[in-house]
Amino acid sequence: MTNKLRYFVANWKMYGHLRSLNSLNKVINFRKKNKKAKNLKIIYCPPFTLLHAFVQKFKNSNIKTGAQNCSFLSSFGPPTGSINASMIKSLKCDYVILGHSEKRAKGENDKIINKKISSALKNNLKVIFCIGETILQKRKKMTKKILLNQLNKGLHKIKKKENILIAYEPVWSIGTGLVPKCEDLNRVISFIKIFLRNKMKFKNPKVLYGGSVSPQNISLLRKVLNLDGFLVGGSSQNSKKFIDIIKKTFI
Ligand code: PGA
Repeated sequence: MTNKLRYFVANWKMYGHLRSLNSLNKVINFRKKNKKAKNLKIIYCPPFTLLHAFVQKFKNSNIKTGAQNCSFLSSFGPPTGSINASMIKSLKCDYVILGHSEKRAKGENDKIINKKISSALKNNLKVIFCIGETILQKRKKMTKKILLNQLNKGLHKIKKKENILIAYEPVWSIGTGLVPKCEDLNRVISFIKIFLRNKMKFKNPKVLYGGSVSPQNISLLRKVLNLDGFLVGGSSQNSKKFIDIIKKTFI
């Protein structure tokens, strides 16, 4: 059980009703049976409406819960429809995903993401900070430039770096079935880690990969040994597939 690929984050996106909780029994049992797999970290990020129910469901199971976004405001305030980090923390959630490309596409910029990261950390949430290039940027060979820009701006003046996980999610791979070639992925992950260590003073940077991770491609992706885990969208909504991904990687 020395595999360092140990983070498995389930991003449920805009899926799930209360009745969907039954499907989690399989994952809870799987986690129980693998008690000794101390390094294994399973984190579920359902929609806001299910956060409380997930936290309750995962009590005593060593599975953590996180939100998919939060407001950049730390205090209570008028923005209708928003939820801040302290409200998320008060439900006993441990994580929040920030900077997801599906939010960036709706106008969330680096400055706002930076404020959100700061607010989340202040409220003792761990942050899963998503970065990634579009297909056009990839074609123009701008990947490194884009990632540096997102990291520099998103992490501007941020402390508590040990509470940040980076998720490299190429926009062109999210929900498309496309994944980077292993050697390309390896190169990008090394690049991110070197930058985080040397320029951002991270002691032990952790980088996950996200984008179309599935039971079919995990045997290939797990060969990218500088990764610390996976952020799984579509495939995580099916417990059997999610367990399959964990098993094929970790066990
Ligand atoms: P996907 O989504 O696995 O469905 O591509 C990943 C994500 O958006 O985090």
